[in-house]
Parts: sequence; structure tokens; C-alpha cells
Amino acid sequence: MSLQVYAHRGYSAVAPENTMAAFQRAVDAGAHGIELDLHLTKDDEVVVIHDETVGRTTDGKGRVRELTLDELRQLDAGSWFGEEFKGEKIPLLSEVLTLVAEKGLLVNIELKNNKIAYANLESKVITMLQEYDLVHRTVISSFDHYSLRKVKELCPDVDTAILYMANLFEPWEYARKVGVTSIHPYRPTVVESMVAKCREYNLPVRPFTINQVKEMRRLIGLGVDALITDKVEQAFTELNR
Ligand code: G3P
Ligand code: MG
Repeated sequence: MSLQVYAHRGYSAVAPENTMAAFQRAVDAGAHGIELDLHLTKDDEVVVIHDETVGRTTDGKGRVRELTLDELRQLDAGSWFGEEFKGEKIPLLSEVLTLVAEKGLLVNIELKNNKIAYANLESKVITMLQEYDLVHRTVISSFDHYSLRKVKELCPDVDTAILYMANLFEPWEYARKVGVTSIHPYRPTVVESMVAKCREYNLPVRPFTINQVKEMRRLIGLGVDALITDKVEQAFTELNR
């Protein structure tokens, strides 16, 4: 399969990350897929936001886990990025999945459960993917690899990917041990011999987060399966060179 472009937190170079505006711009730019991050609210709703706290990307403060959905939905998740995005809300996963289904996108759902052990986040996500008939267009990733094992047990058909920063020893073997079907490595750990070995193991490699032109060129040259990037149009420029 040819290389895919995933818009990291939506097309986050041009719109506030993890908002519907950023996901819509990813669609407009022709991204194959979008990446998004998930947390649970105080009342156990699945919401799309990167941090454990709302301070960086909204006009509110506090922890996502200690705010109800109603409280979170009153926050402005757009103005910090630009006045024209004033009024953007923290999306529910269901809203983004509606767009994904409508537009025929791929989606990389990152479970942000490596700092907070959210009970049932995995089963909530799987249930929604089944409802929207998106199991086969999704890859679920996490830095918590036990969680990915749980995902696989709940839904053997869904693609899962270990996220990692360290230069893992033989990640293809490790992936097999965890039971995942892809890897999402931190970009500098991706080298030629590693990509070759993963290909031999039939293990797609989708490094993050690829924003520098030089790094785009290097990774395209190595034949990785996808780029996860904030800069969707730049990635297409490099792909089409
Ligand atoms: O999925 C790749 C990337 O999103 C992981 O890091 O912190 O941007 O969620 P982060
Ligand atoms: Mg992420």
C-alpha cells in the first residue's frame, strides 16, 4: 500500500488541535486519515483532547477527569489558536466518528490512558467503532501497551499500534509479544534495517510526529507506511516530488 498521511490532532498546523475545524481541514487537504487523543470526563463521556488538563487548549482550567461534559462543552477550544476559531468546542468522539464515516477517512485513535488509568475506555471506544461500522478503518494506539492487549481481546479485528519513544530492542518481536498489528515509533528510532525487519514481519510502521521537510524525505525514502504530521499539505508536497 502506498504511504498514507495522518493529520496529527487534525490538521493542527492550520487550526486548533483536536477540534472539528482541524478535522475538517484535514479532509479538505486530502489527508487519508486523522489522529486524535481521547480522555474521559467526570461523567464518563469520551472526549477528544490531548492534555489531561484543559488550560493549554481552552479558555478554562482544571482536569478533564474532574469536569462534566456540560462544563467542558462551555469552554472555547479555538480562540487560543486564532480569533476566527472562537467558539470551537472540545468534540465528543461520536462527533468525530460521524465525520470519519461520512468522509470515508481512516482514523488513528490514541487512548490517553498512560497517565490516568481510565476504566472501560477501551470498551467504550470499541462499542462506538462497532456502532459506526469503523472497526476496519481504525488503528487504536496507546503508550499503555497493556491497554492495547485489552483492546485486542475485546475486538481482535481492529488494528492496534504500540506508541513508544525509546529505541526499543527488536520492536517487531515486542509487537508480536504484545499482540499488536502495527507500530507507531518516535521518528528518530526509525532506521532502514528496522523498517526492513518490520516489513518482513508484515508490521506497518507509522512514525510520529513528522513536521520537518528533511525528516519527511528521509522517512518517505525508507518506505514507512504512514506519516503522522501536523503539516498535511507539506507532506503531500514531499510525497509528490
Ligand atoms: O500518535 C502519535 C502522537 O500523537 C503521540 O504523541 O503527545 O502528540 O499524542 P502526542
Ligand atoms: Mg496523539
